[in-house]
Amino acid sequence: MNRRPIILDCDPGHDDAIAILMAGNHPDIELLGITVESGNQTLMKTGKNALHLAAYLDLDVPVCLGASEPIIKEVEACPAIHGESGLDGFTYLPIEKQFDSRSAVSYLIETILSAPQKVTVVTTGPMTNLALAMKVEPRIKDNIEEVVLMGGSIGRGNVTPAAEFNILCDPEAAYIVFNSGCVVKMFGLDVTRQVLVLPSVIERMAKVENKASKLFVDLMTVFNQNQKHVFGFAGGPLHDPVTIAYLIDPTVVKLQHVSCEIDISRGTSYGRTNCDLFNYQKKPKNAYVATEIDVAKYWDIVESCIQRYSL
Ligand code: RIB
Ligand code: CA
Repeated sequence: MNRRPIILDCDPGHDDAIAILMAGNHPDIELLGITVESGNQTLMKTGKNALHLAAYLDLDVPVCLGASEPIIKEVEACPAIHGESGLDGFTYLPIEKQFDSRSAVSYLIETILSAPQKVTVVTTGPMTNLALAMKVEPRIKDNIEEVVLMGGSIGRGNVTPAAEFNILCDPEAAYIVFNSGCVVKMFGLDVTRQVLVLPSVIERMAKVENKASKLFVDLMTVFNQNQKHVFGFAGGPLHDPVTIAYLIDPTVVKLQHVSCEIDISRGTSYGRTNCDLFNYQKKPKNAYVATEIDVAKYWDIVESCIQRYSL
């Protein structure tokens, strides 16, 4: 089977880390590179985390630093969930891996324009890097297979009642991407809040007993503690890896083609993804949004990705 070339744009972040783990070692996915922006933590911290994760997982891919702040609005962060480092629970060892010299925007433009096969861009953080790349070099849109993102929600948000974190971090960036004309597939809180890392999930992944399972257990233990403290969840929603699980097995979710408008009006619903499930407004359909997820199949996919790593 032809491997799907992807670029993973992220803000690690505990759940971003599992997305990197899954994308970095799968026979159907060719991870071309990792681009990073601020989001869960400052860019220096999310960048350091991406670099250390790639080194820990022996991923020979470029890691490129991107936007340190959103296009217009003020910077957000999420220490309550991801901690001061952005990856609390991870053991940082000395590494030789260095950041790629290219900025995330330069890397996205150069890689997508020169790719012999259309590139899938996966975003699991704010969409600042991709939006800026589209504005600087619109021609990349012709060589993007699809944009697969964790973000938004058909229902309520997780930062404000209206808005989900990744979109709220940079609503104008999301607006640019959702109106780019590219195929956009949105995996929002409606499905990610169904895949909770319950203690039974941690116990299941711990039994794999390799470096990937150790990473999963170490990170998810802290992630769960913080999610319980903030939201009272019995397990943290493993948001970001839903994007990668979809690339591995599209039957893990159900998608609906809808009109999705990003609220950039700066009111109390700023950053909301308004999805017209009933097509009542008869506006152009610009996004495929995930409405259902097969929870059992999702954890099977996560476990199979963990099993692929060596001791
Ligand atoms: O709302 C969940 C999203 O915000 C995830 O991508 C998580 O990593 C945080 O960035
Ligand atoms: Ca993220």
